[in-house]
Amino acid sequence: MLGRIIAIDGHASTGKSSLAKSLSYEFNCIHINSGSMYRAIALHIINNNLIKYIESDTNYLMSKLDGISLEFKEVGTKLKLFLNGKDIEKDLNSLVVSNEVSNIAAIPEIRSKLVKLQREIDRSKGIIMDGRDIGSVVFPDADLKLFLTASIEVRAERRYDELIKKGANVTLSDVINNIEDRDKKDSNRKTSPLIIDNDAILIDNTNKTISEQLQLIKEIVQSRFYN
Ligand code: DC
Repeated sequence: MLGRIIAIDGHASTGKSSLAKSLSYEFNCIHINSGSMYRAIALHIINNNLIKYIESDTNYLMSKLDGISLEFKEVGTKLKLFLNGKDIEKDLNSLVVSNEVSNIAAIPEIRSKLVKLQREIDRSKGIIMDGRDIGSVVFPDADLKLFLTASIEVRAERRYDELIKKGANVTLSDVINNIEDRDKKDSNRKTSPLIIDNDAILIDNTNKTISEQLQLIKEIVQSRFYN
């Protein structure tokens, strides 16, 4: 995997990050969940009462984001995201953040700020990056592009179970509404919408376990990189 890039894009809650993380252990490379970067910005905007400027004054909003620091740091075997020096991982997947993040990710200035950071990450060990525009915009020359999808029911149930395990107070219909809303916004925004690139391999994991997906991708990597 040295120096190689695997882009994993796809619909919301299709297990992109879990899959990317397992693959990164397998291939001994770095995993970057780009969605966590958009979520970190959303968290900062929410916590600093800046939501009202999303539509009314993007310039002011961007000036408030100018000085923030967003860094991945190695903690043990993991890369964790720090916002202004603080470990914010546990706050990123709340429904409050999920409900705002697609609106924030549609702002072109925020996208270009994050795409720049994503391209600057050291790729010498190899990178598996998951998101919505990794194969189409961030790394159009990626060595392998995967696009994950699954039925809305299966995605919502997986996400709901995850949130309940973390002690969140949500209903299945809250989760379905959030996933449908994000898919719609991610696919219809003007700047880098979610698309299936011509050279991406489509994987529908509705009926696939994570180990079946891992096996499938390991075979694809083996034949593409090493044969
Ligand atoms: O992968 P996720 O659900 O954590 O992503 C959160 C939101 O961020 C999602 O609604 C779309 C947006 N996103 C994006 O626009 N581009 C990316 N590369 C990653 C995420």
